[in-house]
Amino acid sequence: MILTTTFVCFCLASAFNYFRTRRQRSLIKNLKGPFTWPLMGAMHKLLFLTPKNFLQRSTEYLSKYGSLSRCWVFHRLFIPLADLELSRQLLESDTHLETGYELMKDWLGGGVLMCQSDQWQKRHALISGLFDKRNFEQLMDLSRQQADQLQQKLVEKADQKVFDIWETVSPLVLDLIVMITCGAKPSEEYSKNLESLSEIYRKRFLSLQSANRFNYWLSSPFMRKRQNRLIKRLNEEHKNLMASHQSQKQFKIGNGLDMSQLRPMPMKNFECLLEILVESKDPQLTTEEICGELNTSNYLGYLLCSSALCFCLVTIARNPSVQQRCWEELSLAQIKDQGWDLEKLPYLEAVLQETMRLYPPQVIVGRQLKKDFPYTHSVVGDGDLPFGSEIYINLFELQRNENRYPKANHFVAERFLDSPPELLSFSLGPRCCPARKLSMQLLKTLLAPILANFELLPYGDELRLDLRLIMGSSNGFQLGLKPREIGGNAI
Ligand code: HEM
Repeated sequence: MILTTTFVCFCLASAFNYFRTRRQRSLIKNLKGPFTWPLMGAMHKLLFLTPKNFLQRSTEYLSKYGSLSRCWVFHRLFIPLADLELSRQLLESDTHLETGYELMKDWLGGGVLMCQSDQWQKRHALISGLFDKRNFEQLMDLSRQQADQLQQKLVEKADQKVFDIWETVSPLVLDLIVMITCGAKPSEEYSKNLESLSEIYRKRFLSLQSANRFNYWLSSPFMRKRQNRLIKRLNEEHKNLMASHQSQKQFKIGNGLDMSQLRPMPMKNFECLLEILVESKDPQLTTEEICGELNTSNYLGYLLCSSALCFCLVTIARNPSVQQRCWEELSLAQIKDQGWDLEKLPYLEAVLQETMRLYPPQVIVGRQLKKDFPYTHSVVGDGDLPFGSEIYINLFELQRNENRYPKANHFVAERFLDSPPELLSFSLGPRCCPARKLSMQLLKTLLAPILANFELLPYGDELRLDLRLIMGSSNGFQLGLKPREIGGNAI
């Protein structure tokens, strides 16, 4: 009896699902994809996907089904995409702007990545104000100060022994990004909370138990509790800073508030993101939205810049001729007592771009279609991707395509010097990273003194790529360091 009832329910649910997805299926008939079981679809393809095997499995998947395919899981239609022509059309479109970061909602909700599409344009423009001309030089000064601190930390490590450079680099990047967004050096507790929260989300990524809200709620109550506590603490600190900003402003215009309860905003010569957001009239943001924005930029800035920097250092360490050429370029671009003229470092910039081509810090860029997406393609032909599809652009695969990037799996920085190929690591189109220019300059500012003062040694284990929210390495970023001799080969 129970078996018969289960069987009937299964048949009814499958039939319902079949009719519900009829239109979508008719539009993607031309796409290949894994076998679709009734009701469950190609769930078997996702079951054993882990951060460690993701990249290898996606390579196998793409070689089997092509760079544009379809994959049903229950009623959801996933479109894995690793094709430049189609990705460009999608990312440059003004219509298909929904990103769908459901996993991150508790933390980043209210921020630009997750806000409604009708509010998105104004938000994006508002955040871009942080990186405009009047602020840029000051942010670079701040990066130079942070680069000096990084030097001091690295001196302790320069004993030619193997170490994981992530451990040294990422806390300093975190401090720098938080100073840019919140205008104050984070307290030790704030930094720890941000690191721990990122770690929780990195664990949740690709984990079936915590992928959707209901499973997470059911299967990981302690982790969820800790996650929510950390979010609350970070946001309390944001609110505190907002209150400090407001009261300092009122104090300035002479309404004599009692400031003794608040931590004063430090003196600084740039406008931080928090100030831009608090001062904004159009759009006027709620406290929750401001917290969402700060969390979004902190999360993206901290993890993506740290990943880019560590991959770059390890790659340079393992390519002596690249290291030598960077060093020669740096010795010509130095300005007395003022660091380096970043405009005179085209090779270092190319090295960074080539690193991000091979190891895009954000591997997947997602779009959720709220309307059909009509496309034209020189190989696949013309077609429509249906409303409701979830498109996942795999930048790792896309930027290793031999037809677009000759010698795709090799590190060839020169390709970015003369007629540079397309780099999608900051995404493209209206929703691309507003901090692209700042990030490139910031990374060059942090890299230049390291390469000038230390020799990077190719020691330790090779990278073992894994994908835990960002591109990472499961055994860390191992290398050795040797100080360059003062008056000898140090610049
Ligand atoms: C190497 C460093 C970085 C890389 C590779 C990078 C990459 C990206 C990518 C791929 C996106 C598009 C996300 C999507 O559409 O799904 C993005 C968006 C964004 N990035 Fe970056 N990013 C970097 C650094 C930063 C920094 C330092 C900040 C801020 C301090 C930042 C703030 C943002 C914001 C606010 C967005 C959302 C834009 C929008 O949706 O309108 N990023 N970034």
